[in-house]
Amino acid sequence: MNEPSASDKTPFLYVVVCACGVAADVGRLITAAQERRWDVGVIATPQGLGFLDTAAIEEQTGYPIRSAWRAPGDPRPLPSADAIAVAPASFNTVNKWAAGISDTLALGVLCEAFGMGVPTAALPYLNAAQAAHPAYRRSLDQLREMGILIGSYEPHRPKAGGGADSFRWEEALDLLEPRLRARPPSQR
Ligand SMILES: Cc1cc2nc3c(=O)[nH]c(=O)nc-3n(C[C@H](O)[C@H](O)[C@H](O)COP(=O)(O)O)c2cc1C
Repeated sequence: MNEPSASDKTPFLYVVVCACGVAADVGRLITAAQERRWDVGVIATPQGLGFLDTAAIEEQTGYPIRSAWRAPGDPRPLPSADAIAVAPASFNTVNKWAAGISDTLALGVLCEAFGMGVPTAALPYLNAAQAAHPAYRRSLDQLREMGILIGSYEPHRPKAGGGADSFRWEEALDLLEPRLRARPPSQR
């Protein structure tokens, strides 16, 4: 029987969750990823953490949710990421990420992931009034220029209940998987 090669390793996905209306449904992305043979760890922004059923997510992933930086000398709670899905991505985090601001663990991971060449997809979920701000368009342009894959959700009408039904969680996997397959075997 063949020994398992490095490329047989189950890839590890970080799901970065921001404080958006749909955040509580992130279990749908975790389930879809696990069905598609990813291991998953969740990193929430400090605001996003309040939207989550942390016990349910930790049970589902088998890992603690990370939100704050570890203390120096503490072990890393999650394996390294093979890919990152920012889902949902808030207006706030998209703008800060594009500007290189790193004042949450989630942003720190995202800013560094660019330099590490980790394939990253973002599924913004926001309303059209937020999206109309000129900084948002510039941020998306900046992230695309960095090679970040951006989801197709069309911002919903403000104060109209959101658009959870048309938010496609699996799109993050659809965007990332071809990137992962395109890596040289030494990086798999
Ligand atoms: C109930 C509620 C729902 C929100 N939904 C969204 C949302 O869908 N998208 C968004 O960009 N901001 C939303 N916000 C605003 C963000 O939570 C706020 O900008 C926050 O600072 C984002 O923090 P983060 O980017 O660190 O997660 C919402 C706020 C509340 C209180």
